[in-house]
Amino acid sequence: MDYDAELIRYGRVLREAWGIRPADRVLDVGCGGGGTTREAGRLAPAGSAVGIDVRALPAGGGNVTFVRGDAQTHPFPAGAFDVAISRFGTMFFADPVVAFTNIRRALRPGGRLVMLVWQAASRNEWDVTIRAAIGAPPAPEAFSLGERTTVEGILRDAGFTGVELHDVREEVFYGSDPESALTWIGGFSCTAGYLDERTLPRLRDALDAHRTERGIWFGSRAWLVTAVGGA
Ligand SMILES: C[S@@+](CC[C@H](N)C(=O)[O-])C[C@H]1O[C@@H](n2cnc3c(N)ncnc32)[C@H](O)[C@@H]1O
Repeated sequence: MDYDAELIRYGRVLREAWGIRPADRVLDVGCGGGGTTREAGRLAPAGSAVGIDVRALPAGGGNVTFVRGDAQTHPFPAGAFDVAISRFGTMFFADPVVAFTNIRRALRPGGRLVMLVWQAASRNEWDVTIRAAIGAPPAPEAFSLGERTTVEGILRDAGFTGVELHDVREEVFYGSDPESALTWIGGFSCTAGYLDERTLPRLRDALDAHRTERGIWFGSRAWLVTAVGGA
């Protein structure tokens, strides 16, 4: 299991929304394992893709490079990118307005921001189910952009125009069986401390209840956010 597998159903929505053209210069914010950065690089063979993340990064190659840094403060060259993309990598900034201002300035005039962020936790069956099973408190960071008005306000204050939010509902994959799902969930920093001999059987039962012949799937809801930036 990895994040690319969990989010497989979001792939088509994202590719269509990115609208990446062959010569585009793409910035992938909070790129994690870099799957979306590499995909952006493939869609822009005459352009480039740069992934930035605060954590350790994979090796780049070809037209794909990775930069370790905080997207809130990283000194991107002004106007250097045609598109800034992010798949659930923009909810964790210490100061969102400062961070999105920095990202906006990295875009050329008319450059686009296209990002996916989780809607509120209560609209995400995966979070509701896991937390109820193990009794973990909410992890607000992942849902910090969960409300439409919050996103609109932050992006407006950061200087973006043409902000649009689209309600996207897709299933997320948690593994072929409860054991692989338990291993995947065990790697989440926000829940790892709540998995013990008392809670694990409850979580296994909850996962089993979501088992289908295609594996374990939960409902999820995200905002697909698009906006226009520029230095
Ligand atoms: C939920 S993961 C998504 C990873 C990736 N976008 C994907 O779809 O596979 C969120 C990522 O955002 C990164 N992140 C959090 N705060 C960041 C910041 N201030 N600057 C850059 N990356 C950040 C985390 O390290 C993490 O890799």
